[in-house]
Parts: sequence; structure tokens; C-alpha cells
Amino acid sequence: MSTFTPEVEARVLTLRTLLHRWGYAYYVLDDPEVSDAVYDQHYQELKDLEAQHPELLAPDSPTQRVGDRPAAGFVSVTHRVPLYSLENAFGYADLEKWGERLVKEIGPDIEFVCELKIDGSATALSYKDGALEQGATRGDGNVGEEITQNLRTVRSIPLKLQSQYPVLLEVRGETFMPKDEFLRLNHQRQAAGEKLFANPRNACAGTLRQLDSKMVAARRLHFFAYAAHFATSQTQAELLNELEDYGFHVNPHRQLCADLEQVRLFCDHWEKARHTLAYDTDGVVVKVNSFAHQREVGFTSKFPRWAIAFKYPAEEKTTIVEAISIQVGRTGALTPVAELQPVLIAGSTVSRATLHNQDRIRDLDVRVGDSVVVRKAGEIIPEIVQVIADLRPVQTVAYQFPECCPECGTAVVRLPKEAVTRCPNVQCPALIRGRIAHWCAALEIDGIGDKLIAQLVATQGVKSVADLYALDIEQLGALERMGKRSATKIVEQLERSKTQSWSRVLYGLGIRHIGSSISTVLARAFPGANLLGEATLEKIAALYGFGTELAQSVVDWFANPSNRELLAQLEARGVQLAGAAEAAHSDILAGKTFVITGTLPTLSREACTELIERNGGKVTSSVTGRTSYLVAGEKAGSKLSRAETLKVKVLSEAQLYMLVGAR
Ligand code: IVH
Repeated sequence: MSTFTPEVEARVLTLRTLLHRWGYAYYVLDDPEVSDAVYDQHYQELKDLEAQHPELLAPDSPTQRVGDRPAAGFVSVTHRVPLYSLENAFGYADLEKWGERLVKEIGPDIEFVCELKIDGSATALSYKDGALEQGATRGDGNVGEEITQNLRTVRSIPLKLQSQYPVLLEVRGETFMPKDEFLRLNHQRQAAGEKLFANPRNACAGTLRQLDSKMVAARRLHFFAYAAHFATSQTQAELLNELEDYGFHVNPHRQLCADLEQVRLFCDHWEKARHTLAYDTDGVVVKVNSFAHQREVGFTSKFPRWAIAFKYPAEEKTTIVEAISIQVGRTGALTPVAELQPVLIAGSTVSRATLHNQDRIRDLDVRVGDSVVVRKAGEIIPEIVQVIADLRPVQTVAYQFPECCPECGTAVVRLPKEAVTRCPNVQCPALIRGRIAHWCAALEIDGIGDKLIAQLVATQGVKSVADLYALDIEQLGALERMGKRSATKIVEQLERSKTQSWSRVLYGLGIRHIGSSISTVLARAFPGANLLGEATLEKIAALYGFGTELAQSVVDWFANPSNRELLAQLEARGVQLAGAAEAAHSDILAGKTFVITGTLPTLSREACTELIERNGGKVTSSVTGRTSYLVAGEKAGSKLSRAETLKVKVLSEAQLYMLVGAR
């Protein structure tokens, strides 16, 4: 009797078809359709289903394959010693389970070596009498492609070994493309109208598959050695040193660990620190140090038992769109948001993701019911990056963007050159709520959250930020879930906000394009609402880096009678709309490190250094992972590309002024 439902069987078949196709695109075409994380997630789902329903197992399932077959165009070679792949640990629980098994077999005194898992192409090198005889790809682990000529062009692969080498040496390691080389290559390909590589790993694999080794030589690939056969060492830690003695590059970030706690600390440290490296890594490889211990535990049918790959949590996951809703912001912008089946991504649960705008929805063709890839990178709001159309249920419909504001029913508008669709009704409750929330955040008024704002607008007749100052304790205290104490606090907060600095008040007004640092510059140049209201477009535009779009936005705002009315009301209620210029010194850049490069439009190198230091920052000469900002002018060279590789923020002179508020 069968234990699986037709749905399960259908899902298994769909997953197999997809994984086969994705694998082919990835390994053979070097042109992936989805990211590794998405592949892994579906692979795991298939593995779990096959484990639950073993009768569904089939020899052609992607889960039954060790590696991928060699592509046409190269000679196949059988490896003298097969290349194994590693079992993955997706978290410390997996790592501990692995450790416990080892302790059972070899006792508690196990040492481990941690190495970074370099994200490139596994490579096998054979040396005979100290000379490179053959280089090959991993292939399926037993048979790979012979790419000796190509590998000869990789400078960190020694053609001749140094020091006392054995007659025969089989070296294993990772060939990879550094991030800056990947960027350079993609820029070049973009300029030539060629297809871009998805990531450094694919660029590396694609390069190694070039039939013309001159093409390979033109791209700077590197190689780190991490294993060898027929060497003399008796432990992994010694072996890595031995490989260095032969002339190989071995990744310097490695550590001998006395126990799994130390392994864990190494993994924790590199989870963040890896982003500062010049190449991609996707985890840590943990190996039992002693070769005698390694021999004792041996191999499973697929993996060595003495090593495991600790993988960092993916920043991408697949989930299902349950609904698409529209958020109306304070500027009237309609932002579509996907309501998702909650998924855990890199440590937190994601249940909503932005779809940005109408065009984005249309380009992705996201529909309710779709399986989508959600990315949560860094601190950015989660977003949908891809729809997996093959997993789309039947009978879905394309999303219709609303023609009317879901809040107030006014017909929405979209200006010809804008991506954003807006509700034009300035009295729309959503816009009022947004403006109030923005004001409270800008003026640091605590205790007025979204729920309270919604009540104030819906039931208390609050229509503008000026109306907040007419609220009294009694009126507030009568609201839902609000005691007299909280009401008193809120009134106190509002009272205090009346003397906030002019720059914060200006920011709080929510003038388009006027963020918090720009408002500081503006407030300093025009220390009061009256002065700013009278300023000409030219005068505002002449401020550091402002330009006319920004200046126009200010002029338009002050030209609008209802905004003037708002200012009058605020003033009448005691809100201070002017202030002295900000202090000439600040510690706004405290803890930040800067590097300056190229010719800046107005500041000399010395003046720029002085400006940064006067505001508490530090200036150094070389870009590292710890550099906070690179200030770049014309003819910026290698420092700029290094900053891009290390994802160090790059500022123009004008942006630096913004940052310090032109102090
Ligand atoms: S050891 C039997 N060490 O990760 C041991 N592998 O599945 C075999 N990799 O594609 C691998 N850095 O090429 C090892 N320091 C490292 C590594 C590493 C990257 C790659 C390897 C293979 C995959 C493991």
C-alpha cells in the first residue's frame, strides 16, 4: 500500500525536473537560473520527501548523484585519488551531532582544523618529480576534465615545487576569482554587450572552461591549496604548512581548535568578517586534525566522516505569496507589499516583502499563490527577487495594480517619468498618518506610535502635525488603551518638542528630498522658516551639492498656501521655527574612518582631512574592511575599486558635506 498522496508524488516529480534543469544550467551552461540557496532549499525538500517516502526514490533523482558529468570539449581524466564532497552542517546543532559521533568513535581528545570554505571551483593538481603534470576539474569526483593548460596560467599554482617534495604529489584546492576581478570582468562584458556572470564562482568556472588558455590568462584567477595525498605530514595543520613550503598559497585564516567550542567561535567570527575578504566564502570546513583519527572514522558512501562544511545561513529563501497589499506612504506613494507565508531567513522571520512599485510587479509577474525567492541582505528591507514560474499553481491571475487609492478612493496618478504611483489627495488619511509619524520621529517625540496615530486621525479630527499641539491630557486619556499617565507623558513630550532645533523641525516638515542631513545644511544656511521661505531657487541650489531638483522642491513647498498656513499654525501653537547655526565642531563622525582619494572639486586634501577631524572622524591612507567611507574625487584609482570590492561606502565631496551637516 502506498503511503504517499498524489500531491506528494507530483511535488517530488516537479522538484526533480526543476533540480535537474537548475543543475544543468549551473554546471554545464555556467549560467544559473537560481541562487545556490534556492537550489539547496529545494534539494533539501526533495531529500526530506524521499526520506519520508522511500518508495518514491529513483536512481535518476538529483539526490542520488555525487557530482556532475564533465562537459564536452575537454578530455576526461580519471583522478588518481577521487575528490570527495562534504556533508553540510546548517547550524551548530548539526555540527554538534557530527562531533558527538566522532567522540563516540575516537574518544574525547579530538583536535579540529577550521578553514574558510572558499567559493570557487574544486581543482585537482598532479605533480611528478616536482613538476605540474596535470590539472583537472572535480567533475563527478572520479572523472573530471583535463584543464592543465588553463591552470598553468594561474599564477598562484606553482609549475615547479620548492623544497623536498615527494616523487608524486596530488594536491587539492580551490581555484577562485577575487571579487574585484569579477567586477572588472563584468564591467568589461557589459561594455562589450556580453552576458554577465552571476557571481565570482560562475565566472571562475566559466573561465576554467575556456578552450583558449590566453583568455584564462587575461583573467586573474587564484588558487588556495587545502589538501594533498602522498605528502609527509601526519596532521591537517602540518599538511597546510607543508603545502606552503612547496610553494602553494594556503589560506591564512585557519585555526587549530582544541574542541567544538573553539570551532564555534571561529565560525561565529567569520560569519561577519568574511564580508571583508577579497573573495567569496560560503562557510567553514571543519576537519579532524590527526590523519590517524581520519583513517579511523573513514568515509560514508559519499562523504568523509572526518570533515564537515559549516554553511552560513542563506540570505535567500523561497516561500509563497499569500496576498499582495498596498501601503500608502506620507508622500502618497503606493507601495505594493507581498504578504508571505512566514519564513526564517538568516535568523529572523520574514512575513512581508516589498515589491517596490507597479513596474516591478509587472516585470516579475508576481501573483498570489506564487513561489517566490525572498532576499534579506544586510539591513535592507526584504524583497522579492524572483518568481519560480514552474511552481505556479493553476488558475492564478496577473496582479492588477489599483486605479484608486485603497485608503481614500481618489484616482491615483503616475507622472510620466516616475516609477511611483501616488494618491494625489493631501487630505488622504494615510498621508496624514504618514506625515504625523514622520514628524514624531524627526522631532524625537516618544510614545506616539502607529496605532495611536491611526486613532487620532480617525476619531479625534487630527489633520496635521499642528493639530497635535491642540491635544490635551483629558482628550488623550479618554482614548483606547491610554491611561492618564501615558497621556501626561505624551503632552510633555509634545511640549518639549516645541523647542527642538530648527533643523529637526525642517526635517519633520517632510519636504520632498529633504532628509535629515540635508535639512541640517539648509537650516544652517537659512536659520529660520521666514528666511528659508524667502530664499530664491538659485541661492538654495548654490549650496553644496544641492542642485535644482532639491532646491525646486523647497521653493515649491513654501509657495504652497496650505504649507504656509501649517507654519503659521505651528508658530501660533508655540513651535519654534528658527534657530542658531549649528556648532562648528561635532563628534558626528566619531568612530568613523575615512580614506580620501582623487581630486575633490573644492577641498584640498588637507582641508578635507581637517573637515573630517573637526567632526570627530579619523583619516587613514589605505582602504580596508574597517574603512567607513572613501571620499573620492576625480581620477580616483585603485582605492576606489578596492572600496567597491570591500563594499566600503563611497562619498563625493558634496555627500561628505551632507554627512557633517556642513559644520
Ligand atoms: S576539503 C574530502 N577544504 O568545498 C575533503 N574543501 O564539498 C574535500 N572547498 O567543492 C574538501 N574550501 O572544493 C575543503 N578549505 C577547504 C575548502 C573546500 C572550499 C570546497 C571544495 C568542494 C566543497 C566541499
